[in-house]
Amino acid sequence: MFEVDLDNINTSSVPPLDKNERQYYYMAKVRDIIREKSRERGKPFTFFIQTFGCQMNAHDSEKLRGMLREMDYEEAEEEKNADFVIYNTCCVRENAENKVYGNLGYLKHSKRENPHMKIALCGCMMQQDTVLQTIRQKYKHVDIVFGTFNLYKLAELMYTNFETEAPVFDIWKEHGDIVEDLPTIRHFKYKASVNIMFGCNNFCSYCIVPYVRGRERSRCSADIINEIKALAADGVKEVTLLGQNVNSYGRGLEEEITFAKLLRMVNEVEGIERIRFMTSHPKDLSDELIYAMRDCEKVCKHIHLPVQAGNDEILRVMNRKYTKQHYLGLVEKIRKEIPDIAITTDIMVGFPGETKECVEDTIDVIKKARFNGAFTFIYSKRTGTPAAVMENQIPEDQVKKNFNRVLEALNPIIYELNCKKVGKVYKVMADDVSTSDESYITGRLEDNSLVHFKGDRSMIGDIFDVKITDCKTFYLIGEKV
Ligand code: SAH
Ligand code: SF4
Ligand code: F3S
Repeated sequence: MFEVDLDNINTSSVPPLDKNERQYYYMAKVRDIIREKSRERGKPFTFFIQTFGCQMNAHDSEKLRGMLREMDYEEAEEEKNADFVIYNTCCVRENAENKVYGNLGYLKHSKRENPHMKIALCGCMMQQDTVLQTIRQKYKHVDIVFGTFNLYKLAELMYTNFETEAPVFDIWKEHGDIVEDLPTIRHFKYKASVNIMFGCNNFCSYCIVPYVRGRERSRCSADIINEIKALAADGVKEVTLLGQNVNSYGRGLEEEITFAKLLRMVNEVEGIERIRFMTSHPKDLSDELIYAMRDCEKVCKHIHLPVQAGNDEILRVMNRKYTKQHYLGLVEKIRKEIPDIAITTDIMVGFPGETKECVEDTIDVIKKARFNGAFTFIYSKRTGTPAAVMENQIPEDQVKKNFNRVLEALNPIIYELNCKKVGKVYKVMADDVSTSDESYITGRLEDNSLVHFKGDRSMIGDIFDVKITDCKTFYLIGEKV
């Protein structure tokens, strides 16, 4: 990976024009400021990052963390004691936004107690004009605001804020070049996320993501493979390839490449033991990909394939571009080629026009596809999307009832499939100490199901044989063999 020694940067020269060099230059400058301030104050400066969104956002936070560490900030245990607080926001549903506003209110008090505290907001929510207006009017204690396209500029924005002592807003409407080689601090030592593409072109009619993450663009395969090789050399065993729709990876690149080909290339990287990816859009799932998953021994036997809904008319209005039959056909094909695969999904309830009868179709898909897991969401109206102005919005009490019916269909199947694992032995990667009982470790099976088993911190990051002894709907219990 790109290694830069900030000590070798001449911070009294003019800022370089190269995007990458420029940021390292500003990191060096901010580091000088922070060192000076820490000396004056007699204790180090600290940061706290809160991530509100998906894996993509979480991975962006790892880049923010990497840059802050370069600038000599230390990680704070608690938000209220931190000198630099960043909220990496999400706007996919309204409640994600409400949480941000709620927390910002609290931060006003913390900032009064710590005059050094700086507050930065970034991520998807900041790409919306209405949000920016609200921040400017009601949250004047915010110091820095940036969006999804210019995250790499953190150091430059911090420097500007230190110099001017005025709030800095920098939001781009469009993406610039993909900036490679930012410093990154991974959350896990032995597993890592890798962006393979950014943005989304699908414009599902309920979804805000294409508006806040911009048009789809893929990274070239050489950059991806080099990153993964460097991760492997650094001890990483599991990589998750990230994109809003990995199945359309490669479109628009000069090289002849597909996601299936990329998977086969990643499978060759020495040291990597497990490969995962998120997310697959059913409309673009190719046979070629199914065969690649079947053939590549490191690719986990798990696919997350969001269905959203089962009714063809609803799917059409959602602009999903597949039918219930097509989806079920895919499930069948996948299970035929890879018999023990786990299929998980996203389901949305309450899309405009979705009647009780429409929900029956969703329940039918649940029963036929027999999902191993599902994220279920209540439709949330997102300003600016086509669905937000549809007239047939569904009343809340009806949505709640339909939502419960979906859960009633889903949960017994998930439980039943989980129970089939009892008595069998699986390879499990130990992720963390259990939050409820320190003597337990939590880990994931290859199919992504969660298991708790007796162990200690020293086991984290390794892969163990674990015998499943009991099952619940949302997790398994096991013992190391
Ligand atoms: N790109 C991924 C999904 C990203 S968003 C894909 O297409 O599969 C993750 C999930 O959030 C979606 O699958 C959808 O189920 C849900 N979601 C998106 N917009 C939503 C909205 N307006 N209200 C409720 N749920 C939504
Ligand atoms: Fe949103 Fe659809 Fe793109 Fe997924 S594919 S991010 S649901 S627009
Ligand atoms: Fe992810 Fe939320 Fe943005 S789901 S892409 S963080 S809107």
